[in-house]
Amino acid sequence: MKKYLTHHEWQIIEDGFHPEYNRISESVFSIGNGRMGQRANFEESYTGDTLQGSYVAGVYYPDKTRVGWWKNGYPEYFAKVLNACNWIGIDVKINKTVLDLAKSDVTDFKRVLDMQRGILQRQFTAKLQSGEQLRVDATRFCSLADDEAGVIRYAIQCDFSGELSLTPYLDFDIKNEDANYDEKFWEEVELAVRKGEGYITAATRKTDFHVCTGMCFDILVNNKNVTPDIEVFRKEKFISNTVKLQVNEGDEVVIYKYAVNLSSENHPKDSLSTHADKLLQNIRKKGFQNMLEEQAAAWAARWKDSDIVIEGDVAAQQGIRFNIFQLNQTYTGEDERLNIGPKGFTGEKYGGSTYWDTEAYCLPFYLSTAHERVARNLLIYRYKHLQKAIENAEKLGFKNGAALYPMVTMNGEECHNEWEITFEEIHRNGAIAYAIFDYIRYTDDKAYLADYGLEVLIGIARFWAQRVNYSNQKGKYVILGVTGPNEYENNVNNNWYTNFTAKKCLEFAMESIEWIKKNCPEKYKVIIRQINFDETEEQAQWQQICDHIYLPKYQEFGIYLQQEGFLDKDISPVSDLDKADRPLCQKWSWDRILRSCYIKQADVLQGLYFYEHEFDKETIRRNFDFYEPLTVHESSLSPCVHAILAARLGYHDKAYDMYLQTARLDLDDYNNDTEDGCHITSMAGTWMAVVKGFGGMRVVDGQLHLNPFLPKQWTSYSFKIRWRSNILNIKVTKDKTIVENESGAPISLVLAEKLTEIANEKVLAKS
Ligand code: BGC
Repeated sequence: MKKYLTHHEWQIIEDGFHPEYNRISESVFSIGNGRMGQRANFEESYTGDTLQGSYVAGVYYPDKTRVGWWKNGYPEYFAKVLNACNWIGIDVKINKTVLDLAKSDVTDFKRVLDMQRGILQRQFTAKLQSGEQLRVDATRFCSLADDEAGVIRYAIQCDFSGELSLTPYLDFDIKNEDANYDEKFWEEVELAVRKGEGYITAATRKTDFHVCTGMCFDILVNNKNVTPDIEVFRKEKFISNTVKLQVNEGDEVVIYKYAVNLSSENHPKDSLSTHADKLLQNIRKKGFQNMLEEQAAAWAARWKDSDIVIEGDVAAQQGIRFNIFQLNQTYTGEDERLNIGPKGFTGEKYGGSTYWDTEAYCLPFYLSTAHERVARNLLIYRYKHLQKAIENAEKLGFKNGAALYPMVTMNGEECHNEWEITFEEIHRNGAIAYAIFDYIRYTDDKAYLADYGLEVLIGIARFWAQRVNYSNQKGKYVILGVTGPNEYENNVNNNWYTNFTAKKCLEFAMESIEWIKKNCPEKYKVIIRQINFDETEEQAQWQQICDHIYLPKYQEFGIYLQQEGFLDKDISPVSDLDKADRPLCQKWSWDRILRSCYIKQADVLQGLYFYEHEFDKETIRRNFDFYEPLTVHESSLSPCVHAILAARLGYHDKAYDMYLQTARLDLDDYNNDTEDGCHITSMAGTWMAVVKGFGGMRVVDGQLHLNPFLPKQWTSYSFKIRWRSNILNIKVTKDKTIVENESGAPISLVLAEKLTEIANEKVLAKS
């Protein structure tokens, strides 16, 4: 754990230069706008430890995989989010010496992520080895208003007289640090550079995505525009302009660098550079200050919808805002082809691909804080991949339209090849069906079922129907050879979560069929004809499976068994582990982990969280009391689920501990891995820990429930949710809960277990 960032309500602050944590800061201070993202690398040269990262949404590369023992059915590639053109670069030279913080005496360093306005700022004083001194004040952001644009204001206060040389550049000669074969993935298509501006278009190998990155700039000396001589330079995949200025001590030189990143996903390839040029001219004309104002306004609108205010605990306030900020800058919901990678735009790890994380964790955040179409777009993303999911299942021997969604994907194809995940972590199908259920439960948009959902549900149901087998010995349907959410067990039989999920998918598919048959009979006929669905025979089989699926239990303890044989393990709590053994994934051999009873992330508890409404409180308690002490939470996705259940059980301190782990996971580098990028998908879990955990928000039978409590560490907290056509502000203090209904039209909800009607505002005093 590291504690070098200053606590602040709206800002993330690195006060003083911490080169030893530079990669962590580069992740944490990342900026993005849903279309492009940028790690907090320095504009000027830096020879210290750094992970360069500029990313363009939707652009990936199918890297050849490194697998020792190839298995039939493996996908051919592992998709990578690509490190794209470095658009932020501005080299600075004073007389003959290059400004490089790794080689300078750095004082008054401050890096600030202003989450309220969505901007990154950095200030420092540097004394070069050659003796000259300067003070830099840099601000940049990825514009939400012009989401293909980024802009930088880089101001230099000269404490020297002499030559100052500035070289804004674009560098497309970029590598991914995680390239399996150390290859470069970009090839130059077109390049042009003139005095004051230029662009490079490059194409990805194999996938042939084209990206055009352009730049232009303005320079001011002591607030006056100057038009200095410019030296133009070009080489393969690289352009620059060098400007040499004679400055006097006390002068201020400011360079505004405007950059754009356009991809062939959004523009025709042959006119990319024309569009880039147009956008560049537009933003330059608009100017930095106007862009900054637009940025602040756009972020103010985001915050209006999604902020959570915590009083009395700055660390917690900063934590939740950081999570909300990162989610909003990763996915805006504007484009249904995009999704939310576990590291968003903050690093290369996890390939930037889509995991079950989106459906299982992220969806509720967007459901409650953004327009309904945002969550809908996330579902449509999977709808559009249905055919690929069917092909994926076919490759593994399934037929008749059975769909197995990939565990990891960019375009619908599976692109992960650890056998225990690719072949066995089939529970992901359950999360995709659950997300449809969750979306409809929350929005009541049942039309979604007829328009898109049903086909997905039938494909998934068909998969489960073929994946189970009947055990004569048990007289039950079983699911063999799986990995549950807890990846510290592989190839187990009858993982309770997977089996229960399969049952729920089949039931939900059948309920949905009933609803569509009744409400959209014409559409239903078209769908079942198209997919050749034999409703009588297939549904009879599904029902049979639901009635007889094996759900392992241990009666004596009154718990569900994570999988068959779990109790053969040597069961001892995590608290008995030596601290030096943690994290297990870094300290223990894999076989030792697999044999142990330690649980990486919520597994049985994940199922109880998803389908909480089907279990009584005592069942949840017994399972929580049994599994929580065995859970090491070595997946970032775990603590939030435990926080929600702990809150439900009245284990308030536990809920709070779990909340803190998720909220400050990256800010305090809990898992020692933030340098690879932030844990974006688990950030939605942080939001859930507050709203569903402390706030007790649930939807049961179409009815919104709130059952809040106040963690004793806080004075108050407030959050806002969109609930169908209403917007509700909920504030919880020591002695009351206030629910304000912004929409004016009265709504009914169950508040602290009582059905309540709220016209404008309801104040519930704590009894
Ligand atoms: C977790 C998975 C998750 C993945 C990406 C893994 O460590 O075990 O459940 O999908 O990370 O976040």
